[in-house]
Amino acid sequence: MAGQVWPAIEQDYLACLHGARYIGGQPVTTFEQEWAAYCGADHAVGVANGTDALELTLIALGVGPGDEVVVPANTFIATAAAVVRAGAVPRFADVSDDTLLLTPATLSQALTPRTRAVMVVHLYGQVPEMAGLLAVADEAGMFVIEDAAQAHGAEWEGRRAGSFGDAACFSFYPGKNLGAFGDAGAVVMSRPGLADRVRALANHGRSHGALHYEHDYVGTNSRLDALQAIALSGKLTCLEQWTERRIELAARYRDRLSGTPEVKLTSVSPLARHVYHLFVVRVPERDRVRAELARRGIQTGVHYPVPCHRQPPLRRFADGPLPVAERTAGQLLSLPMFPHMTDDQADLVCEVLSDTLLTAGPELADAW
Ligand SMILES: Cc1ncc(COP(=O)(O)O)c(C=O)c1O
Repeated sequence: MAGQVWPAIEQDYLACLHGARYIGGQPVTTFEQEWAAYCGADHAVGVANGTDALELTLIALGVGPGDEVVVPANTFIATAAAVVRAGAVPRFADVSDDTLLLTPATLSQALTPRTRAVMVVHLYGQVPEMAGLLAVADEAGMFVIEDAAQAHGAEWEGRRAGSFGDAACFSFYPGKNLGAFGDAGAVVMSRPGLADRVRALANHGRSHGALHYEHDYVGTNSRLDALQAIALSGKLTCLEQWTERRIELAARYRDRLSGTPEVKLTSVSPLARHVYHLFVVRVPERDRVRAELARRGIQTGVHYPVPCHRQPPLRRFADGPLPVAERTAGQLLSLPMFPHMTDDQADLVCEVLSDTLLTAGPELADAW
């Protein structure tokens, strides 16, 4: 994919290299404006990665010691780790058996008088039931932070990920739907005053417009560098085309796998535009099936094999069983998904998966 965008960015990239202004500057400002506009938000602040985006957002909103933040148990550990690093307590919520995402009911169950915020994770590329989640959050008077690291361009009722919460956090890790040439991230928001605060915190707490060595906060160094911003602006021009191709491939997978009852597909709401960062299915005896697929040349992933509340560093925050997250963790299988994948490659994945399940023995057919 870098090859597809390189001709468009080559000039800016080389000019930046020769100009030797590598941190911040016009390329970063330009990308921030483009990304905020794409998401339908007023501001975007470029930061060093998605994990910092989450942590800095919590700190900028004043969430910290004494506060609880609801986190779905089925997510990448960074969502919960950011809460711990900000000094707050993650309170884990279960997920839907159909979508594997947070629901208004599981959010409500996780609330306590100390809840200050919820991390709404648009996992795999799908925005969860946003209207209901916002209503619960509004009623409880808490902040909504979107973890949109896997959801560039995802929508709910025609609104883009990044436009719902008090703030939304994106990762531009190279493997993401919009990926940089290294680590990068952004916080997107329309809430007045928040952008300046996140920007200051990401730049050693430096005061906006003040002298270089005047600081308002104890911050950190989490700035987006100019070369990454140039790469991101270049790739952004292809994002919609790549997303449409992901959606096409997902429809093909769904069609080809619909006749294999051992494969459980995740539900997609008709109100959602799922952008398929990952195409996740559920299969019985996942590890055995996965090993057989690997033996036959099909590489798969698992997102995620251990729910957050069962990860050793987070176990102390676990509070009761979360049956769906716990049961499904052993069934999840991410099939190959990338925009340059061909139809034939997708068909081959389906054929090999169906064949593996058919020939694996009658016990698999009864597994559900
Ligand atoms: C859901 C989720 N949240 C947060 C992150 C953290 O982003 P980064 O790797 O850019 O720090 C990721 C990245 O994998 C993610 O998938």
